[in-house]
Amino acid sequence: MNHFLSIRDLKQSEAVALVRRAHEMKTSGFRSDLLAGKTLALIFEKASTRTRTSFEVAIRHLGGQTMFMTPRDSQLGRSEPLKDTARVLSRFVDGLVIRTFGQEKLEEFVQYGSIPVINALTDEYHPCQIMSDLLTMYERTPDFADLVVAWVGDGNNMAHSWINAAVYFPFQLNIAVPKGYEPDQAIFERASEMGAKIWITHDPREAVEGAHYINTDVWASMGQEEEQKKREKAFAGFQVNGDMLALADASCKVLHCLPAHRGEEIIEEVLEGPQSLVWDQAENRLHMQKAILEWVYTS
Ligand code: CP
Ligand code: NVA
Repeated sequence: MNHFLSIRDLKQSEAVALVRRAHEMKTSGFRSDLLAGKTLALIFEKASTRTRTSFEVAIRHLGGQTMFMTPRDSQLGRSEPLKDTARVLSRFVDGLVIRTFGQEKLEEFVQYGSIPVINALTDEYHPCQIMSDLLTMYERTPDFADLVVAWVGDGNNMAHSWINAAVYFPFQLNIAVPKGYEPDQAIFERASEMGAKIWITHDPREAVEGAHYINTDVWASMGQEEEQKKREKAFAGFQVNGDMLALADASCKVLHCLPAHRGEEIIEEVLEGPQSLVWDQAENRLHMQKAILEWVYTS
C-alpha cells in the first residue's frame, strides 16, 4: 500500500513521472472512475483553502467521494487518541488526507490504520505543494538542469520539501534564511549526501543572484502565530520586492504557495506583477492532486 507522507516516499523516476502525468492530466482535462465507490476522509487540524478544495475536487474528478473532518467537530478535538481514530476510520473509508502538526502524527495514522495516508501539510513538510510547484516550473522550463531556484524566507515545511525535491530534480537550490531559521540540518545533510545541489546562506541577495525562480512563503507558519512580531524583525531584508527581482535572471518568475501576506514576505506589485506565477501554481494543485491520487491507488 502506498502512502504519500513526503517526497521521499517516491522513487526519483516516480517523482519525474508524476510531474509529467499531472501535466498530461491538466492538458487533457482528465476525468476517470479510478476512485468510484471509494470515500476519502480529509482530516484538517489547520486551516486550508487550496489544499482542501483541490483534493475535494480532484477526488470527485476521479469518481470518488470525500468527507471533511476537523478536531472541532470530531472526537479528535476531545483527545481521542489518533491510534483509535486511525483504526475506526480505516473500517469506513478508503484513504486519509491529513493536515496536521507533527509529522509523527501522520506516521501514527499509518502505523495503526490500514488505508493510504496523504500528507496535506505538516510542520515538517508540504509535499503535495512542492510537487505541484514542480509542475508549474515544468510548464515553462521542462528541463530542470540549468535552473537556479532561490528559496527566500523561513527554513520551514515548504523549504524542507524543496530540499527533498532537489534530490530528484537537477536544479540548484539556493536557500536564504535569517540566522536561527535554517532548515532542519538532518534533512539538508541527507539531501546533500544524495547529490542535491543546495546552498544555504543568510544573505538573500546572494541567493537570488541569477535565479530563474524566486520562491517565498509566510514568515510565521500556522501554529507560529504568537511569533509573528519577533519574526517580522528577524525577516526584515527577506522581502521579495523589485530590488530583489532586479538581481535575478531577466526571465525570473516568482512562486508563492499562498496565502500571502502582502507587504511582509512579498509586495503587492510583485505578487500581482508579470513575473508572478501564483495563480497557475494554485490551479496546478488540482492537477497534481489527481496525479498523486493515481500514484497512491495504482502503483
Ligand atoms: N498553499 C496551501 O497549502 O494553501 P492552503 O493553506 O489554502 O491549503
Ligand atoms: N508554511 C506555511 C504554508 C502554508 C500553505 C504554513 O505551514 O502555514
